[in-house]
Amino acid sequence: MSDEQRDVIEILEHDHHEVEEMFTELESLRGASTEEAQQRRKTLTEQVTIELVRHSVAEEVLVYPQVTAKVSAEEVEHARKEHAEAEETLHRLEKLDADDPAFDDELATLMEEIRHHIEDEEGEMFAHMRQAIAPDELRKLGARVEAFKKVAPTRPHPNVPNDALSRTVTGPAASLFDRMRDLATGRGRD
Ligand SMILES: [Fe+2]
Ligand SMILES: [Fe+2]
Repeated sequence: MSDEQRDVIEILEHDHHEVEEMFTELESLRGASTEEAQQRRKTLTEQVTIELVRHSVAEEVLVYPQVTAKVSAEEVEHARKEHAEAEETLHRLEKLDADDPAFDDELATLMEEIRHHIEDEEGEMFAHMRQAIAPDELRKLGARVEAFKKVAPTRPHPNVPNDALSRTVTGPAASLFDRMRDLATGRGRD
């Protein structure tokens, strides 16, 4: 691990920022009817899904257990509940075409859920982590999160409980299957 290693909070906040950028573009395309705009909406929604799933599963497996141990079990329970709700929304969204009337509604629900969740994490959980966990530990956790995200699932699996153990037991198979499907369809590539 080098001195350049970003700590876990920097990494997670950077992910949040990227998701917000995609949300902003998606909002600008709301109601657009050209085929090009529809295609862009579908692609962006896939990218946002991939990013959110990898990010959330990394939090559930690596970050939240640390928060439970050192900060607050209650904050983690609340965060897992919000992840589960957003995962259901992603799952419904995955089945819709961009020109389906329900697509905009589900997308709006997702943005609301995620923006609220990000506010909670950045405003409370991460602030508490900075107080309770040593900088060196936060950097080590950052390295693990970066490595984990490379092999994490890319599709929502709302039927898998989102505690660390369940995710670790079923995760590798789900992840491999997600990535094979992505390869076969070219999902998330442009
Ligand atoms: Fe997060
Ligand atoms: Fe989260």
